[in-house]
Amino acid sequence: MSIERLGAHYGFERMPFGKDLAPGMLHPHRAHAEAVARIGWCVCERRIGVISGECGAGKTVAARAAVRSLDSSRHTVIYLGTPGVGLRGLYGTIVSALGGDPRFHCSALIPQAQELLAAEEAERGKRVILVCDEAHLLDAQCLEGLRCLQNAEMDQTAPFCLLLLGQPTLRRRLRLGGFAALDQRVGLRYAIAGLQADETASYIAHHLKLAGLGHAV
Ligand SMILES: Nc1ncnc2c1ncn2[C@@H]1O[C@H](COP(=O)(O)OP(=O)(O)OP(=O)(O)O)[C@@H](O)[C@H]1O
Ligand SMILES: [Mg+2]
Repeated sequence: MSIERLGAHYGFERMPFGKDLAPGMLHPHRAHAEAVARIGWCVCERRIGVISGECGAGKTVAARAAVRSLDSSRHTVIYLGTPGVGLRGLYGTIVSALGGDPRFHCSALIPQAQELLAAEEAERGKRVILVCDEAHLLDAQCLEGLRCLQNAEMDQTAPFCLLLLGQPTLRRRLRLGGFAALDQRVGLRYAIAGLQADETASYIAHHLKLAGLGHAV
């Protein structure tokens, strides 16, 4: 049976549990609402936030919801979604997103990224939010590199907000001695827990309704 006929059989207008959810389509369970609120605080305070949770817990959805609610004329969101690109790749993405032409040598690329990040707020009045997804896959060099970007004006102020989204191994990894400098700068740690039984029922009903099933469970 084709997927269209299967959908029609159940009365779906679109497939349930899709990824293309508009902000108003999100299910407001406690962990989601809490994650969105805490990310908002992290942005205001320009802190480093570590949002962890199992696969599918809703980390990316919560971060997307939080940054979507920000005034785009006063915020610049840079999404780093491919941790395998290495430190050069991360810096290059940041520089390009801020309108620069990434310099070739790392020794020139690092100050270029730092200068552009500082200028975004100081000159354009826009707060930068670096969203680093799948951060549990970042190697040690990348994690350290991201921390170093936060060292501005002899570590007096943080020039941007850094959100690290990852599976629970990320939290455990950061506790290892080698990452102490990064770990002690983390201002927000939030683990998105699984749904409670009543939330699960309402979550499923919510998705079925979004899919067009008027008479949900
Ligand atoms: N608040 C929500 N309301 C409705 N659906 C949600 C919500 N949070 C998550 N989902 C659903 O769960 C799916 C997985 O969420 P998401 O991609 O954010 O998980 P994740 O924690 O980032 O997973 P991964 O570790 O695999 O990247 C989404 O595509 C969406 O369908
Ligand atoms: Mg994700």
